[in-house]
Amino acid sequence: VLAPIKRIGVLTGGGDAPGLNAVIRAVVKTASNSNIEVLGITDSFDGLLENNRCRVLTPRDVTGILRLGGTILGTVNTGNPFEDEIETSEGRKVYADRVIEMYRKMGLDAIVAIGGDGTLAIAQQFSKRGIPIVGVPKTIDNDIVGTTSCFGFDTAVAFATDAIDRLHTTAEAHRRIMVVEVMGRYAGWIALHAGLAGGADAILIPEIPFDICSLAERLLERDRWGAKFSIVVVAEGAYPKGGHLSLIEGATAGHVERLGGIGARVCEALAKETRKETRSVVLGHLQRGGAPTSFDRVLATRFGGKAVELVKRGEFGTMVASAPPDIVARRLEDVVGKTKTVPLDLDLLHTARSLGVTFGE
Ligand code: F6P
Repeated sequence: VLAPIKRIGVLTGGGDAPGLNAVIRAVVKTASNSNIEVLGITDSFDGLLENNRCRVLTPRDVTGILRLGGTILGTVNTGNPFEDEIETSEGRKVYADRVIEMYRKMGLDAIVAIGGDGTLAIAQQFSKRGIPIVGVPKTIDNDIVGTTSCFGFDTAVAFATDAIDRLHTTAEAHRRIMVVEVMGRYAGWIALHAGLAGGADAILIPEIPFDICSLAERLLERDRWGAKFSIVVVAEGAYPKGGHLSLIEGATAGHVERLGGIGARVCEALAKETRKETRSVVLGHLQRGGAPTSFDRVLATRFGGKAVELVKRGEFGTMVASAPPDIVARRLEDVVGKTKTVPLDLDLLHTARSLGVTFGE
């Protein structure tokens, strides 16, 4: 027989993504309808370090947040809870030990942790140490394995598509090559989807290292048949054949490496190779800001509702996942530490190539 769940905590970790608030709202409303109290834990697991960093969330507190970007709980994407030591009001402690101690003191029965791969990996470690946890996958990059989609991705793609539409008109007016760098880390999902939706002529993704000469040649071909401008979408993780990733900053203790700069490099190289005017733009965090699309709101709401259902059933050490038409549970240990990249035999790649889109091979 399952012990009744009376009080759960909810937290958001890692980089933000549009739809986090929609999940929080769904968790609070669903839990409240089952007479479960929800404690909002601020700043990811940091909120469990002291007992003044949490607050009860009632349905009244989450009214109106469905459409808001960001997260009302705040988020953190640095640090290693299982190595870092911290000063607390009760002395110096290992971060993870303190979290577990406070979890018990606060009388929580479970935690819903909303986050990307990093947060889910931390959640799995806590789960192994006895904390009942259900994860909710979040990322604009769409690179979490075990789920066909994550909220935030559709919003990022919609924004990037709009940006590409805008670049089209100015590119055509000046007969230029416009290079647009999008996010996505080591996966090309955002570039591929926004590139196709925006009618890009070339899409460079990490899964297919590119050759600048053959890319230039394909773009010059467009000039020959009369389209004297081109749009090139570059994923931040794309790199040339035999070359390497472009980094803004390498990894340091507790901080992952920061990708960026490939758009400018491709732009400069294309100017040399094609002798055309080229310009580049980096969409950056604009892709993560603002209101979630209706698709992301629905997905986030379904994830939040399902997470509470799993808590009530005692299915811990799991992550909610989209497996259309259902939302299902996956074991955290089966999904963390992996990256869902674009498969080379993906139908979408085939369709794009058949239309004449080049991947710079
Ligand atoms: O994982 C989401 C993401 O936006 C990536 O696409 C990007 O590389 C990274 O986070 C940027 O991180 P930060 O917000 O720390 O600059």
